[in-house]
Amino acid sequence: MARADGTLQAWADRCPHRGMRLSLGFVRGDRLVCLYHGWQFDVEGACRQVPAHPNMTPPSTVSPVRYRAVDRSGIAWVSTADSSDTAVPERPAPETATEPIRSVWFTAETGRVIDRLRSEVEDLDLDEHVATGRIDGVEIRAGIQRVDETTTAVHVVAVGKLPAETVTRLVRRLHDIRDSVTTTVEAVQ
Ligand code: FES
Repeated sequence: MARADGTLQAWADRCPHRGMRLSLGFVRGDRLVCLYHGWQFDVEGACRQVPAHPNMTPPSTVSPVRYRAVDRSGIAWVSTADSSDTAVPERPAPETATEPIRSVWFTAETGRVIDRLRSEVEDLDLDEHVATGRIDGVEIRAGIQRVDETTTAVHVVAVGKLPAETVTRLVRRLHDIRDSVTTTVEAVQ
């Protein structure tokens, strides 16, 4: 969820009342409302209203689990680590809006995925976590996530608004890249 001022929020998908998925709820003003019993949480995660007991002051200890979330480089970065100093890649934000394209999961270790990106992405500018460049002429940014030793996720956004057919073509390309890495890994084993 995003605050009215645009600040990103990321919470565990579990209501602290009875465990309902908060993602099934809705945002009203600056509050997230749980779909089950309608408890309302403000942007700090504090429960502000319990509809069944409108005169009750909700206990301050009732709060969803919140994660550190930062919007940077046109990508939402969320840290589930219990630390406020987890590094977030520093890249200037694109001047135009970004459009989410696809998160692609590779069954391959991160170095191998990066090697493939080097050969597939034009004008690639790459660090440990962020790749920028162009695929088939489309300017992209990608967050590179090492999930574990054999799994890497690449979260791709396009810079600017794209026609639907270009998005479809780009998704196909990303899947081809993913499949080529997976095929290569299987051939080596
Ligand atoms: S489970 Fe969310 S308000 Fe009851």
